[in-house]
Amino acid sequence: LHLLEPRKDFAGKRVLVSAGPTREPLDPVRYLSNHSSGKMGYALAQALYQRGAEVTLVSGPVSLSVPYGVRCIPVETATQMHAAIMEQRHHADVIIKAAAVADFAPAEPGSIKWKKTREDDVPTLSLTRNPDILHTLCQSRQPGQYIVGFAAETHDLERHAREKLQRKGADMLIANLVGADHGGFGRDENTVEIFTPAGSHGQFSGSKIQVAHAILDQVAMQCTVP
Ligand code: CTP
Ligand code: CA
Repeated sequence: LHLLEPRKDFAGKRVLVSAGPTREPLDPVRYLSNHSSGKMGYALAQALYQRGAEVTLVSGPVSLSVPYGVRCIPVETATQMHAAIMEQRHHADVIIKAAAVADFAPAEPGSIKWKKTREDDVPTLSLTRNPDILHTLCQSRQPGQYIVGFAAETHDLERHAREKLQRKGADMLIANLVGADHGGFGRDENTVEIFTPAGSHGQFSGSKIQVAHAILDQVAMQCTVP
């Protein structure tokens, strides 16, 4: 129904969405990253545009095309994503952080390619922590701004989701189980459970575009943006 005749319930709303993984360079040819495909965040951006929002997407490297009508700011690293989000957030009524931000980055990425010079040469990786973008957003939120986080968990979904919602200070948390037991990454379908500080708002399954609309139904219901 949504796909045929979307309600314009986000008309006049400016929404900032982050999507995809980040890539943390080890040297000019190698990086640390994760399995995020970006599909859920892109589906949200597409659904938001269909529902009348002005959408800015800050995207890590993915192999998806930018949805029609959506402005995209491409980034690679968590530090770049952090900078782009901080720059864009002032204009946003709603922020949805679907990106799978790498928690750590190599402390001293090489400026030239690492070579295995000797037979027994095994490098040791030393890492630093990346900025927690969602936490920063929530701690310095602008009045009336509604902030939605995601949590991908391999186990104890509800416990981690409730704890994460509180720790980050987000208004809503979209939790989904990931890993080999749950159909793996990059799928076109998803099952999520939606939490706010008031509790669970139910489980939603379907294509990522259907799940995106279900999430936006909840955001529209919860959010009191004037
Ligand atoms: N997130 C973020 N910046 C980070 C790490 C995560 O903005 N450096 C955001 C993600 O975009 C997501 C939410 O925080 O919306 C939860 O991410 P997740 O990785 O599940 O939480 P962490 O706090 O990193 O906890 P952990 O990985 O230890 O489970
Ligand atoms: Ca993390």
